[in-house]
Amino acid sequence: MDKLRIRGGEALQGVVPISGAKNAALPTMAACLLTEGTLFLENIPNLVDVQAMRALLEALGVTCHADLHAHRFSLSARSVKSVTAPYDLVRKMRASILALGPLVARHGTAKVSLPGGCAIGVRPVDLHLKGLEALGASINLKDGYICAEAPKGGLVGNVVTFPVVSVTGTENILMAATLARGTTTIINAALEPEISDLATCLNAMGAKITGHGTTTITIEGVPRLKGATHTILPDRIEAGTYALAAMITHGTLTLQASGLEQLLPSALTVFAHMGAQIDCRENHIAVSSSCELCSHDITTEPFPGYPTDLQAQAMAVLSLVPGSSIIRETIWENRFMHVAELVRMGADISVHGLTAVVRGVPALLGAPVMATDLRASFGLVLAGLAAKGETIINRIYHLDRGYEAVPEKLAACGASIERISAE
Ligand code: UD1
Repeated sequence: MDKLRIRGGEALQGVVPISGAKNAALPTMAACLLTEGTLFLENIPNLVDVQAMRALLEALGVTCHADLHAHRFSLSARSVKSVTAPYDLVRKMRASILALGPLVARHGTAKVSLPGGCAIGVRPVDLHLKGLEALGASINLKDGYICAEAPKGGLVGNVVTFPVVSVTGTENILMAATLARGTTTIINAALEPEISDLATCLNAMGAKITGHGTTTITIEGVPRLKGATHTILPDRIEAGTYALAAMITHGTLTLQASGLEQLLPSALTVFAHMGAQIDCRENHIAVSSSCELCSHDITTEPFPGYPTDLQAQAMAVLSLVPGSSIIRETIWENRFMHVAELVRMGADISVHGLTAVVRGVPALLGAPVMATDLRASFGLVLAGLAAKGETIINRIYHLDRGYEAVPEKLAACGASIERISAE
């Protein structure tokens, strides 16, 4: 398995091109299952998770042409040959559950492996299933698979109320409802920008969706959707991560993508409170930290709150900031696994249930560490960039799932970082 070797201590300076958002690319790729037309997607990031979604779609019979260099995909589900998402593909990427709504909506039946838990928690899908049942689907769980059947004549519009905000749950019901008969109203829908991006793509395909970006989304079902062209929005989590890279190394990074200010409302406020200088322009944001940062408490929340997907990275930065910071994780029950690795590098962090107390230390020391999940991996990269000496990060396949070209982007800004390929 590949590793990363980092020599800490360089203040990063330069421009970081921000890739397309993984969490928008995955549902939008799954949306191709809703039409026999061709979906052309631009700004698709070149990531292992995107390849996993591609493999799943191809297993279902989708024809996929990808120009990875140009970040362009075309997906055509003219003749779906299977409605089964097998365990071996789903276990590699939980977002495979996004095939369920489109398959049952267009083909009337779907069999998708239950994703099971993952390192950051139990990650149930009960709300996806209840939502589909509200649209008339019958759901049976058999041999580890979700078997969903639409009624004769297809799914029927209804009110779907989410008791807790679910991003992929909202996306699954949104996609399924585009082809349901009548009107569907999603109450307590997720507000994440990736939902609006998906809705924009679905509307370009002929869907009738209004209210996306608010907690109530209305979908007027249509008999069929057509092909379309759509550009995936920038990855706000990648942008926030590189902002934190500028902060922890006391450098200056220009994050190149449009509309980032609207995509990162709480995170930019938190970074400014921590003492970062942030200059927002239409097509980029410049983040720098020339002086000492200040401690700050963070609570993760659904959008527009501070994202859970930027929690581990902020913790790495706060571990070097004088004073105490309290981090409360409210989305995932097991998202502090990076703490043990940061502590091995000299951080002073204690965990009490869903709360971590970070007491700033004067320096971190390079060490061999183990990446535990996708976002935690970059927390360790940030710690390595600021640490004294050499850090080796093992198991970086987690990083490859969700961040494009990490060593290349960081090295271009002056970091001493290299990928050590497995023999
Ligand atoms: C998505 C993101 C992930 C991010 C998360 C929260 C994608 C591909 N992944 O994950 O990066 O960390 O949002 O912003 O977009 N829940 C239930 N039942 C369900 C579904 C969810 O109880 O059926 C709970 C979960 O346990 C969790 C909360 O709802 O506590 C939020 O989960 P959800 O928004 O569904 O996360 P994902 O969509 O899986």
